[in-house]
Amino acid sequence: MNTSKAKIDFCVIGCGRVGTNLAVHLAGQRYRPAAFYSRTRASAQNAAFHAGEGKVFEKAADAAANCELIFITTPDSLIASVCDQMAADGGCNENSVVFHLSGALSSEILDSAQKTGAATGSVHPLQAFAPYEPGQASPFAGVNMSIEGSPGAAALGRKIVAALQARAFTIPTEAKTLYHAAAVVASNYLVTLEHFALTLLGQTGLDQARAYEILEPLIQGTLRNIASKGSVDALTGPVVRGDEAIIARHLADIDKKMPQFSAMYRLLGQHTLDIARMRKDFPKEADQQISDLLKNDT
Ligand SMILES: NC(=O)c1ccc[n+]([C@@H]2O[C@H](COP(=O)([O-])OP(=O)(O)OC[C@H]3O[C@@H](n4cnc5c(N)ncnc54)[C@H](OP(=O)(O)O)[C@@H]3O)[C@@H](O)[C@H]2O)c1
Repeated sequence: MNTSKAKIDFCVIGCGRVGTNLAVHLAGQRYRPAAFYSRTRASAQNAAFHAGEGKVFEKAADAAANCELIFITTPDSLIASVCDQMAADGGCNENSVVFHLSGALSSEILDSAQKTGAATGSVHPLQAFAPYEPGQASPFAGVNMSIEGSPGAAALGRKIVAALQARAFTIPTEAKTLYHAAAVVASNYLVTLEHFALTLLGQTGLDQARAYEILEPLIQGTLRNIASKGSVDALTGPVVRGDEAIIARHLADIDKKMPQFSAMYRLLGQHTLDIARMRKDFPKEADQQISDLLKNDT
C-alpha cells in the first residue's frame, strides 16, 4: 500500500446505492476514483460520471488490478463469490486492500483476497442509503462506521472514515455478528416494540397517528434518560417499583382482550425484571411475585 502523500486509486465493484455514494464522497484530495465495475455497464458508467473520473471495466478483476484500494459493494449474498472471482482472476495482491461495507458479514468472507496477500477489512456505515442524487448532502457525514479486519486494513479504514467525515469505531472481527444484531435490535425491534405499544393504545379508539403523537414525548424522554443515566437507571414503571398489582391487571386485560401479545408482554417483563434487580432501590420482597406473574404459563 502506498503510504506517501500521493493519491490512492480506488475501485468500486457493485455500483448501486452505497457504491456510487462512496465513489462520489470519497473522491477528493487523498483518494481517486480510478475504476468501476458493476453487473451492468450503465451503473458503472453512472457512478464514474458522478464521481467525476474513473474508467469502466468489463471484468471486476481488471478494475481491481488498476487500484490499491478495492471496495466490493454488491449485495451481501454476492460479496464472497465476487471477491473469489476477482482474486482468482488476479485482481489483487499483497499491495491491495480490499473492503466490503456489509454490516452483517465480517472481513472473513474476503478470505480469497487475503490468500493473495491483500489486507482485508469491512467498514460499515450505520446509515440507510438512498440511490445517489447529485447535490444531496453526503449520507456518510457524521455517521458512525464500524471497522474490523487486519491491522493494515483497519488503519486505512480509519483514514477512509475520516475522509468521509464519518466517525470510526473498531470492533473485533469475531464480534461482527453480534454488532449487527445490536443494530437490528436498536432499530428494527424498537419498531416492533412501538408497534406493540401503539396497538395497545389503539384499543382506546385512537388512530395510529394520534396514538404516536401521544406516546412520542414519553418515548423521547426515555431515550434522553438512557443517554444521560444509562439503561439500568433509566428504567421506571411498575416492575422496578415492585408494583405487582398493576402488572397483574395489565396481564389480566391483555390475556382477555389481546392474547396475541400475552407472551411478548411477559417475556419483555422478565427481561425488565432482570434490569430492575440491578437497581439498589428495587424492592426485593416483590421479586418472587412479579417473577411468578411473568412466567409464560397462561
Ligand atoms: N443500502 C443501505 O442502506 C446500506 C447501508 C449500509 C451498508 N450497506 C451495504 O452496502 C452493500 C451494497 O448495498 P446497496 O444497498 O448499495 O445495494 P444495491 O443498491 O442493490 O447495489 C448493489 C449493486 O451491486 C451490483 N451487482 C450485483 N451483482 C453484481 C455482480 N455479480 N458483480 C458486480 N456488481 C454486482 C448491482 O449492479 P447493477 O446496478 O449494475 O445491476 C447493484 O448496483 C451491501 O453490502 C450492503 O449490506 C447498505
